[in-house]
Amino acid sequence: MISPTWDPTLYLRFADERARPFADLVSRIAVPAPARVVDLGCGPGNVTATLLDRWSQARVLGVDSSPEMIEEAAALARPGLEFVQGEIETWAPGEPVDVIVSNAALQWVPSHLELLPRWVAALAPGGALALQMPTNAGGGAARVFRTVATGPRFADRLTAVAESGRPSASGGIVRPAAEYVDVLARLGCRVDAWDTTYQHVLPGDDPVLAWYEGTGLRPYLEALEPERREEFRAEVAAGLRTAFPRRPYGTVLPFTRTFVIAYRI
Ligand SMILES: C[S@@+](CC[C@H](N)C(=O)[O-])C[C@H]1O[C@@H](n2cnc3c(N)ncnc32)[C@H](O)[C@@H]1O
Repeated sequence: MISPTWDPTLYLRFADERARPFADLVSRIAVPAPARVVDLGCGPGNVTATLLDRWSQARVLGVDSSPEMIEEAAALARPGLEFVQGEIETWAPGEPVDVIVSNAALQWVPSHLELLPRWVAALAPGGALALQMPTNAGGGAARVFRTVATGPRFADRLTAVAESGRPSASGGIVRPAAEYVDVLARLGCRVDAWDTTYQHVLPGDDPVLAWYEGTGLRPYLEALEPERREEFRAEVAAGLRTAFPRRPYGTVLPFTRTFVIAYRI
């Protein structure tokens, strides 16, 4: 597993912006009344809980490997909504599932393309596999992380992270939308896929740093000795201020995401 330690509080600082793609994905799932719904990589559970707004009769299960995230999510559990700690890679349902959702999680799972056949087989006929992954890993913020990480002050510890194919580093884990269409259509699914670039307008000082501290910057920070983290953060913050200048109304962070919904026929 390559996912770092998660901090639900940091992650939830941009809860609205992070919930939007989940809502956009779920609104497009054409399964009228699913009985069983699973959210793989459910995180703190706040967006998982909204699945019951859409499908009030469903039994919803959130699965996540992070004990910190599952502890946060557990507070939201109620009849029809459960959370369990578990790995996406080994998850397998005991009975067919009507909807499998995975939002902003598979960029941490390098083997996810190989897992698609197993997930399609786990669907009931007419069921849907709905995925959303960030695809802007090669964008401005990632370039800043890489430049600082491979520069003279941090290369000793961070070159390996920058080159490891982690989400913020190379973007190699999330594939172009066409590749998911190809794999899933060959499995016999009807596929609906698209990319969307959100223009997030973020308030406050260094909001892009704050955004990535909750996600893609974590592998770098964790690889550094604690006493060097502040220096790294400061250098990254300076680079991000240049790449994403503050305007009178806020800081614009363009963020591209890939959406894929595959229906088992
Ligand atoms: C960016 S968060 C997304 C959380 C939630 N789906 C949302 O949309 O807000 C990614 C989540 O994926 C989880 N994750 C990463 N790799 C995982 C794995 N191999 N198995 C299970 N969960 C994983 C992390 O623990 C984290 O909670």
